[in-house]
Amino acid sequence: MSILAHLHKDHINLNRLLDILRAKVEKLRAGTRPNFRLVADAVDYVSDYADRHHHPIEDQMYAFFKGRDAQLDALMEECSAQHRRLHAASHELTDAIDSILNDTPMPMDQFIDRLEAYIEEQTGHLVFEETKIFPALERVAQPGDWDKLDSELPKNDDPLFGENRSEEYLDLYRELVQDMKA
Ligand SMILES: [Fe+2]
Ligand SMILES: [Fe+2]
Repeated sequence: MSILAHLHKDHINLNRLLDILRAKVEKLRAGTRPNFRLVADAVDYVSDYADRHHHPIEDQMYAFFKGRDAQLDALMEECSAQHRRLHAASHELTDAIDSILNDTPMPMDQFIDRLEAYIEEQTGHLVFEETKIFPALERVAQPGDWDKLDSELPKNDDPLFGENRSEEYLDLYRELVQDMKA
């Protein structure tokens, strides 16, 4: 699979989890008591996958194409800044969830606002890449660029890439869908 196709597939998977989390937010706003462990697992998955695996590959890809086009450079810089902000936001949200799981009360409205802001920031970032960055990269890339970049990227021995991880994702996804029906 090409790098962009792989990243695009990640976006689809991340979007599916974000959609479910968005539906959770609506349920929470309606006063339903959430299954916090599941919310925590979904946020953990999104942040862990994005911060540890997906964004580093993108950052390396952006570094590879830097200097080709001034407009693209500006977009890629904004994108890497978004990665840093999302990383910080993930930590803040995980901390908030940990406090709730550890029985340190936090006003529910405040938590829901934070969760919603996080979901929207992640979603906005995916849209930004899909609509602005990836098409621009495809325009700028020369024949041979993708193979060269591919050879520079770390090989797929990262457990986040592997079979187990896909299984873990699917289990989590199924559990979330089940929970939404409850
Ligand atoms: Fe990204
Ligand atoms: Fe991405």
